[in-house]
Amino acid sequence: MKFRKVGVIGAGQMGNGIAHVCALAGYEVALYDVSRERIEAGLATIDGNMARQVSSERITVEQRDKALELLGLAESMENFEDADIVIESATESEEVKRKIFAELCPHLREDALIATNTSSISITRLAASTDRPERFMGVHFMNPVPVMELVELVRGIATDDATFDAMQDFASSLGKKIANAEDFPAFIVNRILLPMINEAVYTLYEGVGSVESIDKAMKLGANHPMGPLQLADFIGLDTCLSIMQVLYDGLADSKYRPCPLLVKYVEAGWLGRKAQRGFYDYRGETPVPTR
Ligand code: CAA
Repeated sequence: MKFRKVGVIGAGQMGNGIAHVCALAGYEVALYDVSRERIEAGLATIDGNMARQVSSERITVEQRDKALELLGLAESMENFEDADIVIESATESEEVKRKIFAELCPHLREDALIATNTSSISITRLAASTDRPERFMGVHFMNPVPVMELVELVRGIATDDATFDAMQDFASSLGKKIANAEDFPAFIVNRILLPMINEAVYTLYEGVGSVESIDKAMKLGANHPMGPLQLADFIGLDTCLSIMQVLYDGLADSKYRPCPLLVKYVEAGWLGRKAQRGFYDYRGETPVPTR
């Protein structure tokens, strides 16, 4: 099974990154979101990120131009009629994703595949809400997608071998390395990463350290490229909270309880970088800790 056209639903930080790497790999890409403004913002981000890659000589101007030609805007889901695969990368909410699949399925070719970039929700359960659980699976990219090497591949209980093989070939064609994960809450990366971030928020909540001390400690003491609170802002605090909630509900273990301070930040709308405020305030020249 070889793909030609890829549909991407969700033009946010993950969706535009996925569209970016697909177009660079030579696939025709149709990017969709709930409004034209959001899609255009996603396309503008891709433009900016490709310009960075050109200036650091990671890609050539010709590669960039060819990729931008392959990138298009999907006015509606009807645009996915001739897609070989559609990758859903919307908000980390099961309700939102189910609604999207219900709207999407009637427009797809019978043999088209659906992938979800969910970072934690059960692939088997999401697959069951579609008309093609055997041609459905999890393809979990890492942020920033153009930079991070890994893709987690997650089969649902019904995913067939042809779908899995096609997804492996597809991920490799994007230049990504693959880690296979079983379909349990948050898979591998987030099962390990998010409790670490949540623990960093508890460390702040309990006054063990300030935002600056916690991030400095983990950057310089554990050689992490970003401190855990900086990383939480980068991922999005709403996404971090959703993943902790999936772990807490799905594994029924109190060790996964989301830190009340994380809940408070999300309730305030301080969702991290995308909202210009989270554990840091990004509205000035340099980020300033908010606690
Ligand atoms: N698109 C294209 N290129 C990008 C980019 C983007 N969105 N973001 C960064 N880059 C490039 C930069 O242009 C730069 O390229 P060169 O080396 O060619 O100059 C390179 O990446 C490094 O960037 P910077 O110099 O700006 O900054 P940095 O050295 O601090 O690296 C980082 C930035 C790669 C994000 C690094 O801080 C890092 O690895 N952070 C941790 C990221 C991480 O853990 N991601 C996983 C999050 S978990 C997840 O995604 C799963 C989930 O479901 C929640």
